[in-house]
Amino acid sequence: MHAPARIAPSILAADFARLADEIAPIEPFVDWWHVDVMDGHFVPNLSLGMPVIASLRAVTDLPLDCHMMTTNAGDYVEALRDAGADQITVHIEAYPDPTDVARRVHDAGLRFGLVLNPPTPVDAVIPYLTTCDVVLVMSVNPGFGGQSFLDGVLSKVEHLRKWVDSNGSGTDIQIDGGIGADTARLARDAGANVFVAGTAVFRAPDPVAAVHELRRAIGDKR
Ligand code: DX5
Ligand code: ZN
Repeated sequence: MHAPARIAPSILAADFARLADEIAPIEPFVDWWHVDVMDGHFVPNLSLGMPVIASLRAVTDLPLDCHMMTTNAGDYVEALRDAGADQITVHIEAYPDPTDVARRVHDAGLRFGLVLNPPTPVDAVIPYLTTCDVVLVMSVNPGFGGQSFLDGVLSKVEHLRKWVDSNGSGTDIQIDGGIGADTARLARDAGANVFVAGTAVFRAPDPVAAVHELRRAIGDKR
């Protein structure tokens, strides 16, 4: 049995000048907001930080899932919590031994997760999965929205699903990058249960219809 399916639209693809208006219509139909934080070092791009997270917190009750594409996410745990984050995911490439940062996130009362880039083997995170509430498999190289799904990562999702189910840990398995109805179905079949989608939701002519289509694709009835 998989953990419940969740849809987490990535606000990176939204119009930041109209963020509240962009999220309001789809809020009743989604589960988390995925917030991509980029530092220009870990990835070759800059995105957003505490002010946007705090503004978002003021206009939504949904969990804020902060994907930290930064070299030093651990330095900002309490600031992220104070801005309104509910979950912080950090890259295993930035924290090869994430024990301390996991503890810091949990001590702050937040959910913790590890992220793997497409070239990173699943073995890198296995020793630390017991500390994870979520594990995020990147299906594009991080830094930009709108890229094509790399289906070579699906074997990592399968491996993680076997691990999670055989350990009964209930860890969420999240997929991020190039997710639309077709790729969401592939990821669901491999064992993912949390689906991040930016372009496919916010750049769709009808974002509410796009969310319903995603939910149908992953076989979720809500
Ligand atoms: C990429 C980000 C993704 C991105 C997804 O660095 O981590 O969350 O916003 O965007 P789409 O769905 O357009 O691939
Ligand atoms: Zn992301």
